[in-house]
Amino acid sequence: MPKSIGILTAGGDSPGLNAAIRGIGKAAIGRYDMQVIGFRDGFRGLMENRILRLDSRSLSGILTVGGTILGTSRDKPHRMPVGNRVMDMTDVMVDNYHRHHLDVLVCLGGGGTQKNALRLKQKGLNIITLPKTIDNDVAMTDVTFGFDTALSIATEAIDRLHSTAHSHHRIIVVEVMGHRAGWLALGAGIAGGADVILIPEIPYDVEIVAEAVRRRSRHGSNFSIVAVAEGAMTKEEAKALAEAEEQRRQAKDKASKQKAKEQLEALWSQHKGSTLRLAQQLEELTGLESRLTILGHLQRGGTPSAADRLLATRLGSACAELIHQGVCGVMVAARGDGVEPVPLEEVAGKRKLVPLDHPWVEAARAVGTCLGD
Ligand code: F6P
Repeated sequence: MPKSIGILTAGGDSPGLNAAIRGIGKAAIGRYDMQVIGFRDGFRGLMENRILRLDSRSLSGILTVGGTILGTSRDKPHRMPVGNRVMDMTDVMVDNYHRHHLDVLVCLGGGGTQKNALRLKQKGLNIITLPKTIDNDVAMTDVTFGFDTALSIATEAIDRLHSTAHSHHRIIVVEVMGHRAGWLALGAGIAGGADVILIPEIPYDVEIVAEAVRRRSRHGSNFSIVAVAEGAMTKEEAKALAEAEEQRRQAKDKASKQKAKEQLEALWSQHKGSTLRLAQQLEELTGLESRLTILGHLQRGGTPSAADRLLATRLGSACAELIHQGVCGVMVAARGDGVEPVPLEEVAGKRKLVPLDHPWVEAARAVGTCLGD
């Protein structure tokens, strides 16, 4: 009997998803004679049993296309909005998996998807995941697909902002995505030659940032580019968050857990708009006019880079081979030029942040970039 596999893409879309679907599908069908179906819109499609048959025709011509031909959503199996209610729909998904006589379900996604995939594994399904996200924050893999493309887009944006910042003698604050990790802002900031780079892993002091800008002015460069990760925070914000997280860890009963959770949510909600506030503060502190550019979803759109197509194809075809060998319950991680199956338990619930002694951090400091600390 040929094996049957299902594929879904979940979480934020990311360049390279179609290349990965194609890599899995073409290898599974062409090399191992498997049958392949896709579920639309992530875990919601699995719950609602909305499928797309994947064959050599539907897998053709998608390598270079951005987004995902399957559609995606941020729905979670155990907390799915259904009508006016939020319900645990995991068992419905398990039934649909069996209804299609699947041997394996492949979930392509970031950190949240790895957790949801583990939940389905714990319900007895055969699951394999691939690491995708522009944030590059999935644990246990060298890199995620989508990151390289977003890095190029953000770098090009910083390049373009340079000439206008220079011409108008302004501070341009540019907000880069990355969720709570600084990979994208740090990488693009270094590659684009930002004067200041602020990332969540290194809480900043606004006075230190202002002084870096003023120092540049004193040396004749009366413009500055400040690359800010969307999760970057001041030292005070970081302290308050660390305390709230500690309270959540210490919370014993349901009520205090809920209170700590609400406290954390309130802090993250206060953090919204912080890049705009930073731009305003820098204007006041330096006397230079400032402007804010939020790159936002531009960084996720469009054609994947060559590196992302290559990575996604490599991980996707390796995934088909692992299924053929009967391996499941793992994420197909990128390791050097090869791949490594990593048990989902070792991936789920972890986030890969920028280590403070990472070579990128060292390189940024070495060329005189202010990191706000
Ligand atoms: O995880 C990818 C990402 O683009 C993050 O960088 C960003 O914080 C988030 O998704 C935005 O999510 P949404 O598309 O749901 O607004």
